[in-house]
Amino acid sequence: MPQPNRGRLITLEGGEGAGKTTQQRRLAAHLEARGIETVLTREPGGTPGAEQIRALVTGGAVDRWSAMTELLLMMAARSDHLDRVVRPALDAGRWVVSDRFHDSSRVYQGLAGGLGLEVVDRLHAPLLGSTLPDLTLLLDLDPRVGRERRRAQGGGGRFEDKHDDYHDRVRAGFLALARAEPRRFAVVDAARAEDEVAIDVIDALRRLDPQPGRSAE
Ligand code: TMP
Repeated sequence: MPQPNRGRLITLEGGEGAGKTTQQRRLAAHLEARGIETVLTREPGGTPGAEQIRALVTGGAVDRWSAMTELLLMMAARSDHLDRVVRPALDAGRWVVSDRFHDSSRVYQGLAGGLGLEVVDRLHAPLLGSTLPDLTLLLDLDPRVGRERRRAQGGGGRFEDKHDDYHDRVRAGFLALARAEPRRFAVVDAARAEDEVAIDVIDALRRLDPQPGRSAE
């Protein structure tokens, strides 16, 4: 059970080009309009040090890092992010909306990258402790559609350059995590128009335990 005055940790997950960043902004605006102090952040990144690690891990040649090295870099970034942003905000009663969190490591490095879920989860236990998402919004999209969207936006990078099979495993991996934890995950069809997706994202807030004296709806 979360402490009564602790904030909430909401994570957005999904493949590339699923619209997480747009939906994150809309969700934060919705929460702020209801008087909830909200911190928008992202992984890998969210602190100066973690942003430097992000540049290392998301840039360069596709085969630059093994899955294990990727995982350790992601976890180093996550450790700094947890210490400097996520835990202080939650302790101060703020809500944290993070564009990606540990489920990305579980899927990209664990299920798609070949390390397996058990290894990733075991390494994460001491890092996360009790800091786990209260709600995870999975923006589900065919990776081919996501890639086209990213291309249209002029995006690209080490992960986008990975093979189609990898991105198919990413999509299947996220859906498997959602099936395993149906209370925490809300799966949202991200192939639709932005406004329609936003309605489902905001609707998913109903899954959160009500906070005393405050409503997320
Ligand atoms: P983004 O482009 O969605 O911001 O994320 C950067 C890339 O990093 C994305 O392709 C997914 C990848 N990633 C991992 O592989 N493992 C992780 O733990 C995180 C947070 C991101």
